[in-house]
Amino acid sequence: MYNGWKILLGLIIFLAVATFPFYSNIGKATVKPEPKIDTPVINELKEKKCVESKEFMKAEHMQLLNDWRDSAVRDGNRIYVAQDGEKYTISLQNTCMKCHSNKKEFCDKCHNYAGAKPYCWDCHIAPKEAKK
Ligand code: HEC
Ligand code: HEC
Ligand code: HEC
Repeated sequence: MYNGWKILLGLIIFLAVATFPFYSNIGKATVKPEPKIDTPVINELKEKKCVESKEFMKAEHMQLLNDWRDSAVRDGNRIYVAQDGEKYTISLQNTCMKCHSNKKEFCDKCHNYAGAKPYCWDCHIAPKEAKK
C-alpha cells in the first residue's frame, strides 16, 4: 500500500475539479426570471394583456416579430389584427417597447437567462429606461 494515499488524494482532487462546473451552476440555473410588466403604459391598461395571449407571446414572440418585420418592410402593411380582432400598429419601437418600456427588466432578463441575444438593438432604438 505504498503511495496509496497519494493516489487517493489525486483521485479526490480530480473529482472535485471535474465536477466543479456542475455544482457551481446550482442555484444560477434554477432561478427562473420573472419578467416585470410594471411599466407606466401597462399600469394604465384596463385589461393587462399583450398583443396575443401570454402563452402565445412566450412561445412565439420571435416569430411574431419576424412576421411583423416582413409585413411592414416587404408588404408595406403596418396594421396587425390580433386573434381577438384588436388592431395594433406594427412597430417594434412604438408598439412592443411602448408597453414594455422596461427592456432591461423584461426582454433582457429573460434573454440573459435563455442565452438569447437579439441583435435588433444595433438598429432599432431601445426604450429609455424609466428610473424608479
Ligand atoms: C398594450 C401593451 C402591450 C403591447 C403593445 C405588447 N405587450 Fe407584451 N405584454 C403586455 C402585458 C400586459 C403582458 C402580460 C400578459 C399576461 O400576464 O397575461 C405581456 C406579456 C408579454 C410576454 C410574455 C411574458 C411572460 O411573462 O411570459 C412577451 C414575451 C411579450 N409580452 C412580448 C411582447 C412583444 C414582442 C410585443 C410586440 C410584438 C409586445 N409584447 C407588445 C403588454 C403589451
Ligand atoms: C418569457 C421570457 C422572454 C421575454 C419576456 C422576452 N423574450 Fe425574447 N426570447 C426568449 C427566448 C427564450 C428566446 C430564444 C428562443 C430561441 O432561441 O428559440 C427569445 C428570442 C427572441 C428573439 C429572437 C432572437 C434570435 O436571435 O433569434 C427576439 C427578436 C426577441 N426574443 C425579442 C424580444 C423582445 C423585443 C422582448 C421584450 C419586448 C422579448 N423578446 C421578451 C424569451 C423571452
Ligand atoms: C441592420 C439594421 C436592423 C436590424 C439589425 C434589425 N432591424 Fe428591424 N428594421 C430595420 C429597418 C431599416 C426597418 C424599416 C423601418 C421602417 O420602414 O419604418 C425595420 C423594420 C422592422 C419592423 C417593422 C417596423 C417597425 O418600425 O418596427 C420590425 C417589427 C422589425 N424591424 C423587427 C426587428 C427585429 C425583431 C430585429 C432583431 C431580430 C430587427 N428588426 C433587427 C433595420 C434593422
